[in-house]
Amino acid sequence: MAKLYVNPNVKKGHINPELQGHFSEHLGRCIYEGIYVGEDFQIPNVNGMRIDVVEALKEIHVPVLRWPGGCFADEYHWKDGIGPKAGRKKMINTHWGGVVEDNSFGTHEFMELCRQLGCKTYINGNMGSGTVQEMSEWVEYMTFEGVSPMADLRKENGHEAAWTVDYFGVGNENWGCGGNMRPEFYGDMYRRYQTYVRNYNGKPISKIACGANAADYHWTDKVLETVFDHGSGFMNGLSLHYYTLPTGNWSKKGSALEFDEKDWYRTLKQTLVMEDLIRNHGAIMDRYDPKKKIGMIIDEWGAWYDVEPGTNPGFLYQQSTMRDALVAGINLNLFNKHCDRVKMANIAQMVNVLQALILTEGAKMLKTPTWHVFHMYQYHQDGDLVDSYVETKGVGIEEDVKVPNLTESVSISGDGKLHVTMTNLSLEESCEIEGVFVESKVNTVKGTVLTGDMRAHNTFDAPDSVHTEDFTSIAAEGDRIRFTMPPCCVLHLEVELA
Ligand code: AHR
Repeated sequence: MAKLYVNPNVKKGHINPELQGHFSEHLGRCIYEGIYVGEDFQIPNVNGMRIDVVEALKEIHVPVLRWPGGCFADEYHWKDGIGPKAGRKKMINTHWGGVVEDNSFGTHEFMELCRQLGCKTYINGNMGSGTVQEMSEWVEYMTFEGVSPMADLRKENGHEAAWTVDYFGVGNENWGCGGNMRPEFYGDMYRRYQTYVRNYNGKPISKIACGANAADYHWTDKVLETVFDHGSGFMNGLSLHYYTLPTGNWSKKGSALEFDEKDWYRTLKQTLVMEDLIRNHGAIMDRYDPKKKIGMIIDEWGAWYDVEPGTNPGFLYQQSTMRDALVAGINLNLFNKHCDRVKMANIAQMVNVLQALILTEGAKMLKTPTWHVFHMYQYHQDGDLVDSYVETKGVGIEEDVKVPNLTESVSISGDGKLHVTMTNLSLEESCEIEGVFVESKVNTVKGTVLTGDMRAHNTFDAPDSVHTEDFTSIAAEGDRIRFTMPPCCVLHLEVELA
């Protein structure tokens, strides 16, 4: 039997709701069709936003949304996406699939989407191919309340009041699609561009610098050496991008649906690399920023497979199985565990792209297993991480591809309830667990579980094949609980102490 120790009296940090953040790019069918269908379309919508998708997203309490990219942001010129739609420029989305981008979804539409979702806004500026003036004017357009050329333009375009921009990314992947820069050069560019990302109306914008690709520690070190500590508001976060590739190899990603047991464990092992990345980049950040004033912003994460056969390779459309549920559950537990440094994390991407939470086909919509994991984990948002530890053992088929059978994290929410989330990575073995709540007495406990065959997924014909169920077989006595986790599962327990 594995022991799970929880000490509710030891709080280890605050879990920013933004750890369950999202990302939506002008890529494939994420924005167009997946979220935005325009005002005249047949699919029921409010101001162009699909009602079914917005409702599903509201159920998981989206805390923050990043837009417009990604690599798309590095070529996005925001003025193309404002004003009467008929006059907006049509162009080719050169990065993603070579399709026509008609700019009908722009700044006003993004702000409307966030209004409907009730979430914070994270705009990613264009440093790759845009000018300082362009970035500066975008911020003025969105956030300036008084009289100014950009504020006047916004009003002419129908929006009197300034919006709130909570986060602003000064560049995206500037080591790659954002300009192929060296870190020292990017650092200098960051210093210049961020100067003109002004805080108007006393509402400070959190500025995010472009961080590393996976294990590029040199980037983190050099950017911080160039940029860090020029006073408050100079830099509030440093990003990190890491995707789970089943083999760790971009040229051999494999199928989202057709995979075997070896692929399962390889994928989960690659997912667990996230912990090394957080620790190692975090250690470099600690050298410059021991007081943890700036956040690690993991603004792109998730599983990346080959596209579904017959779909546009540039659209990055993939199905989502129980394997992805585990990828999500493991990552979200890790982010919680490192909430002292990780302040935001955005899964890539929200709808129809990569590890999507929602898939659409015309007027049809389904919730993926990943959506269900976000639904189960939402209770951690705004809670305090509490001290916890679980005993694990290595599981797997190949000797060099073993993973711990369990991961967990525990938080306490404002109403005093404990939320335990756990993943069982084993495909074969259930796991009997005794949970010990130090110096406490358990009053009630209830749970929800997501489990199934490793390839189980939802389809448009059977949209509810994978769904959560109540988890009732839990015995509670004194300071402990006992339960058995099925193999291949994600679990949420709500524990009320006496
Ligand atoms: O999420 C897809 C792409 O992955 C993003 O556009 C880019 O930033 C990353 O390389």
